[in-house]
Amino acid sequence: MDQSTSFSAESYFATQPAPPTLAQDIEGVKEFVARQAANNRRVVLVTSGGTTVPLELNVVRFLDNFSAGTRGATSAEYFLKAGYAVIFMHRQFSLQPFSRHYSHSTNPFLDFLAIDGDGADTEEVGITPDKRADAELFGVLKEYKRVQALGALHTLEFVTVNDYLWLLRAVSQELSVLRRRAMYYLAAAVSDFFLPRQKMSEHKIQSGKGSLHIEMDQVPKVLKPMVEEWTRDGYIVSFKLETDDGLLIPKARAALERYGHQVVIGNELHTRKYQVVFVERKRKPLPPLPPGVDDDEAGDAPAPPPKSPQLESMTFAESWIRIPATPAVGNVKEIEEDIIAELVRRHDAWIESTPAEI
Ligand code: PMT
Repeated sequence: MDQSTSFSAESYFATQPAPPTLAQDIEGVKEFVARQAANNRRVVLVTSGGTTVPLELNVVRFLDNFSAGTRGATSAEYFLKAGYAVIFMHRQFSLQPFSRHYSHSTNPFLDFLAIDGDGADTEEVGITPDKRADAELFGVLKEYKRVQALGALHTLEFVTVNDYLWLLRAVSQELSVLRRRAMYYLAAAVSDFFLPRQKMSEHKIQSGKGSLHIEMDQVPKVLKPMVEEWTRDGYIVSFKLETDDGLLIPKARAALERYGHQVVIGNELHTRKYQVVFVERKRKPLPPLPPGVDDDEAGDAPAPPPKSPQLESMTFAESWIRIPATPAVGNVKEIEEDIIAELVRRHDAWIESTPAEI
């Protein structure tokens, strides 16, 4: 395959087809958002899991990434606990809030079930005796039922990076009616490269020709249009994943400078369950002029900084959240509990700083 193209978000959406279920998905989102607005609830969009990049139109092969959706599914639970309604936009078959505690591999749900009764006619499904008083199961189930009764969780699925981008744009636009009461928590692991539809082989790529050379195009960085066009005043949190700790803060700062959103949470692949760093822009007033000097008297000396309060230099604030990497037995603290508590606090403060616009 030849010649890579540079896609802007605009040219991407003009040339790549929308997923067939988009209109129906967005109808559901519209209703959900209207219900939450009527109940005066804040809403957070949580994106979760990895996106795939198909190599063929009749797809047999695709590229994928490591994300299981743990961060997103766990965070969604803590947002719900904090009183937010959640639109959980996740990779098909990745972990989901509540059911994540009983995944097929680590905690198979059939192990929780027993056959009650003593004869063929009276037998029914029961709960394994040693699970009846299981405090964790009881807690998860109670919270799950509470959220169901409130109607505070809405789920959407994506598989490919194309599904993801179309959904992200449409959901953001719907959610933007809530303005500052909406939060966008972008924890999905999004592919950086893709094959445009126009360059994809229709049928399974044949192996007869030896090695395979594919040149992929760069997926457009959609955070910029998300901040500037799709969301109105929303609170946007992106993640920065690196495998080199030293790059986390510089890359997070660069993202904030480039896109102008509220917070980047940096995480390193191997330590992401135990430590993350919050990076945000901070307005810092310029230092005062030296004593006895004002703007008019400065002569040929280098121009002093203007006194206008709007002209301030931009600096960054970083703060780490850490939990023990090896918790005491029975103490299963999840870092997302602290991440969400901190974000709720920051979202509150941010709304309060401009109350007239809510
Ligand atoms: O699911 P787990 O196993 O728990 O792992 C969680 C996680 C490590 C995947 C998660 O914490 C995380 O870091 N997610 C973001 C990973 C990522 O895609 O980083 P990035 O540097 O490629 O993108 C930066 C941000 O821009 C992300 O918030 C991403 O959602 C967003 N993005 C990325 C590409 C793109 N074209 N448009 C975007 O908006």
